[in-house]
Amino acid sequence: MSEIAVEANEIPAQLPQVRVAVLGAGKMGGILLQAFLKQNLFAAEQIHATVAHPERALALSIQWGVDVGTDNLEAVRQADLILLGVKPFQVPELLAEILPALTPEKMIVSFAASVTTRAIEEAVGIELAVIRAMPNTPAALGAGATALCRGRFVSAQQMEMAERIFETVGRTVTVNEKHMDAVTGLSGSGPAYIYIIIEALAEAGVKVGLPRDIATQLAAQTAFGASKMVLETGYHPALLKDAVTTPAGCTIDGILELEEGGLRVTLIKAVMRATERARQLAAG
Ligand SMILES: NC(=O)c1ccc[n+]([C@@H]2O[C@H](COP(=O)([O-])OP(=O)(O)OC[C@H]3O[C@@H](n4cnc5c(N)ncnc54)[C@H](OP(=O)(O)O)[C@@H]3O)[C@@H](O)[C@H]2O)c1
Repeated sequence: MSEIAVEANEIPAQLPQVRVAVLGAGKMGGILLQAFLKQNLFAAEQIHATVAHPERALALSIQWGVDVGTDNLEAVRQADLILLGVKPFQVPELLAEILPALTPEKMIVSFAASVTTRAIEEAVGIELAVIRAMPNTPAALGAGATALCRGRFVSAQQMEMAERIFETVGRTVTVNEKHMDAVTGLSGSGPAYIYIIIEALAEAGVKVGLPRDIATQLAAQTAFGASKMVLETGYHPALLKDAVTTPAGCTIDGILELEEGGLRVTLIKAVMRATERARQLAAG
């Protein structure tokens, strides 16, 4: 099929008619590709992925059971939907390479940090639908957080299709493009911050005498449970924190240490720094 815009109410649970090219099936591209297969969003025959190194292409095609090669132009020729997953500085060269195979019926979803929809639109030079996405690695388990924003030539149906695709791998929000670098600094990089917090809590558990495996389980489940409380109750995190904090109890003593250690300010600064860096990535 060459026209991927479908009526919103006709968007099927699976997208059997869409042929997908994943250009740059590295860490993030590989996670998305495998998650889409696992969720039965696309069948293996619908996907053509590319990487830079032929030996990796061969290994991945065996591992995933999908067509993985190094010929981007060929992958795009056969595709309706093109996912861009190379490093930000590699995007201009990749776009120049696939240009001859791009037509206005195709749609690009780029999850390269920092690269704007406008930059992609200008590089391709045709009125092509370009959507920018910022997913994160928990998409591997269907627990991702993805922000989407639209370029100038995206129809409502195409946007709904992108939402539908990323909803299969977690929570999806739509934002104005001016917020995409902030999303990158918060939820794109965020899993790394949370792993450090979990690792530190587990280490703390060991310090107060817990076996490491028990401490790690308790720390991770506590982070999971607290996240679930925020998302499912809709209560402000401060209110949920207050419910744990008995007057003159032990939690308030723990919180005192966190505040003195500057955890709150440190996290704010971490997201600010990552956001700032996200603004620069496309430049190399
Ligand atoms: N990692 C994350 O958590 C995350 C989250 C959100 C967004 N992103 C975005 O995802 C993109 C990739 O990041 P990553 O962490 O997944 O990096 P990565 O693992 O290095 O993936 C990049 C992939 O691109 C391939 N590649 C390089 N040049 C190519 C070309 N000319 N044609 C086809 N494939 C090519 C590489 O092939 P080889 O394997 O053969 O070298 C590699 O598989 C970045 O733009 C990043 O901003 C990443």
